[in-house]
Amino acid sequence: MANAPEQTLQWMGGPQGYLSLIDQTLLPTQLQNIDCHDVETVWEGIKLLRVRGAPAIGIAAAYGVCVGIQTLDFTNTSKGQLRQRIEEICSYLATSRPTAVNLFWALGRMGDKAAALLETEITVAQVAEMLLQEAKDIHNEDRAMCHAIGRHGAVLLADGMGVITHCNAGGLATSEYGTALSLFFTAQDQGKDVTIYVDETRPLLQGARLTAWELLRRNINTVLICDNMAAQVLREGKAQAVVTGADRIAANGDAANKIGTYGLAILAKHHGIPFYIAAPSNTFDLSLDSGDEIPIEVRSADEITNGFGRQTGPDGVETYNPAFDVTPAELIAAIVTEKGIISPVNKDNCLKVLQS
Ligand code: MRU
Repeated sequence: MANAPEQTLQWMGGPQGYLSLIDQTLLPTQLQNIDCHDVETVWEGIKLLRVRGAPAIGIAAAYGVCVGIQTLDFTNTSKGQLRQRIEEICSYLATSRPTAVNLFWALGRMGDKAAALLETEITVAQVAEMLLQEAKDIHNEDRAMCHAIGRHGAVLLADGMGVITHCNAGGLATSEYGTALSLFFTAQDQGKDVTIYVDETRPLLQGARLTAWELLRRNINTVLICDNMAAQVLREGKAQAVVTGADRIAANGDAANKIGTYGLAILAKHHGIPFYIAAPSNTFDLSLDSGDEIPIEVRSADEITNGFGRQTGPDGVETYNPAFDVTPAELIAAIVTEKGIISPVNKDNCLKVLQS
């Protein structure tokens, strides 16, 4: 019997409540929550990857707006003061991480909702209540999108198949079933037996710490490999597809995802194996023509030199630590969205499916 889905994010209470999230930096050894009673804790949680994965970052930011406005006394605040505070909160949360567009999408949606509500006759306390409802809607919609992605994508997986995945695009990165992992969970629900080769995903080991943990909890055949073993796994014919999530997809289908994804797509191409991306429509950034315009987060040197408990690089060594890379559309066999499958991946097909 598989475990119940993990509650990556939970809102506790009413408009004066708080956001409780699984502290993903502690997994796989400790399943522990951190409670965010102020927007600074939400910002720090996103920055330090306590909550990570594009959709989960967006949901956390939406709830971050709800905790952020609690610095105001709703019974004694003007609509102008609330508007100003929401603008401050959104600008602040937008500085937490640059690549996943879901963060900016969710903040934009909360900002638009606030602007519309503030034009009406309702009180500031009622605006706060309705903003909390908007954040909950974002959360619930994500849950539904993940299940739809799984339903569309599971047809790509046959019984007995081996699949490589990279980073974590599971329930921990979303509201529940995940994006890439939703294909595996849905295939399992359909009675298919799949084996997932999980790249450990240097430098922060989201594959080893999070994806392997999630898959084992659901009793899926899981084989953990180091990132540099993927080529050999493919050469030995152990995997027949690669599936990952994405953090931002440009209008032409170029997709940013965890560093190492691009290399994996090249390996898949060389071995004649399909490389699939699974992502909800709010991971698309149609304002960008191509992946060249996607901002790539560069993180600190110590993630490479002092990763998990011991120094693994000499003092003073220069490092370069981009957290994401961009896979060109031509290497992607299909993008699985909640609206359907985009294939071949090009601008016309992206627009056709997204606007359906
Ligand atoms: O740095 P992270 O852990 O936030 O990176 C996450 C990824 O790259 C995921 O693959 C992506 O956000 C998709 S999550 C459904």
